[in-house]
Amino acid sequence: MSKQTPFGLYVHWPYCRRLCPYCDFNIYRHRGGAHDDLLRAILKDIEGHGARIDAPGPLHSLSFGGGTPSLLAPGQIKTVIETAARVFGFVAAPEISLEANPDVLDRAACAGFASAGINRISIGIQSLDDEELHFLGRDHSADDARRAVDAAQSAGVRVSADFIYDLPDQTMAAWTHGLEAALALDLAHYSFYGLTIAPGTAFGHQAKKGRLKRPSEDHSAALFAFTQKHAAKAGLPAYEVSNHASNTAEQSRHNLIYWQNGDWVGVGPGAHGRAHIQANRTALVTAPRPEDYCAVVKAQGWGVIENTVLSPEEVAMEALSMGLRLQAGLDLEALNSTTGFVLPQQNLQSLTDQGYLNTRDNILRVLPKGQALIDRLVLELLA
Ligand SMILES: C[S@@+](CC[C@H](N)C(=O)[O-])C[C@H]1O[C@@H](n2cnc3c(N)ncnc32)[C@H](O)[C@@H]1O
Ligand code: SF4
Repeated sequence: MSKQTPFGLYVHWPYCRRLCPYCDFNIYRHRGGAHDDLLRAILKDIEGHGARIDAPGPLHSLSFGGGTPSLLAPGQIKTVIETAARVFGFVAAPEISLEANPDVLDRAACAGFASAGINRISIGIQSLDDEELHFLGRDHSADDARRAVDAAQSAGVRVSADFIYDLPDQTMAAWTHGLEAALALDLAHYSFYGLTIAPGTAFGHQAKKGRLKRPSEDHSAALFAFTQKHAAKAGLPAYEVSNHASNTAEQSRHNLIYWQNGDWVGVGPGAHGRAHIQANRTALVTAPRPEDYCAVVKAQGWGVIENTVLSPEEVAMEALSMGLRLQAGLDLEALNSTTGFVLPQQNLQSLTDQGYLNTRDNILRVLPKGQALIDRLVLELLA
């Protein structure tokens, strides 16, 4: 039997009850209501993509992200899953995941999501310290987060949790305590993200005015190295820079499609996709504002406002920036056969000599020294 190309569908639900001061995603304040107009547009956009792209086969994954897609009712989620099944079909055991905020995640909600078809819930816990949660502008407590984990587990789905570390003034001792509390939840998958401060966010404004202290690069690097080592020791090695799983079956199959340069459709406001159209790998972006997105879908039959055929160099650059994030590395032979691209050997040799990269059996990997510098390494490799 030939191996199917992993293929995914991402659904962006942009509404949040509260906008967190660090968040740079395409988000809008949820002021109540079911947003059925947006849901209808998303369903039509799935159909529109189905009619226009070369789907490589049935879907391996469907991921509801945001924003806060756990604000959707189980019935709304079910309609999306049914439409995806009709338009693209699913492989035998697809991953159907939902990002969820702890404040809305009780047992009844989790049971509803599971019966709608969700089989993996990723909970945005961020911290199990109430003071840190307050600093991060979250509307849940550490106890709420623990209850949310329990509720998700009771629904029989796979459970993951997101944490943010490297907060201003966070000492190694504080993060050691934070990481241990996280690992004590005993989950099979975690995402540990260092706090990034983006311009345009509330934290970005504070940082610009000098009111938000940033840790030194050395301190950030030490926290990152500690996270990698300590989580691995607890049986949760990183399989991607920020993502840890107890075994391969627990890894995020959806995110692996991004990191392995696969094809996926992105629907909902401001969603990005990568798909083949008439055999060309194409970058697709939908209209970011919900009202515009609904209007574009109505007028065109899909929500895409940018549709760019990628050159072999662009495909290679994306494959490198994504693939180097993976512990498993990047298959240079496969990269060459799909894009015709050969890495400049001099650049590769120089970064290898400096101890940032290594190549064995044609698999290119980033060594610990280069983990925090992947974007720079890609530019130097392609220079
Ligand atoms: C798209 S968000 C959605 C999660 C969900 N709405 C929540 O807040 O619980 C996914 C994850 O990205 C991470 N994240 C968002 N902004 C971040 C930032 N500025 N720095 C580090 N991690 C961030 C958080 O851990 C968050 O759970
Ligand atoms: S972190 Fe989650 S809840 Fe907070 S604004 Fe971003 S998407 Fe919304």
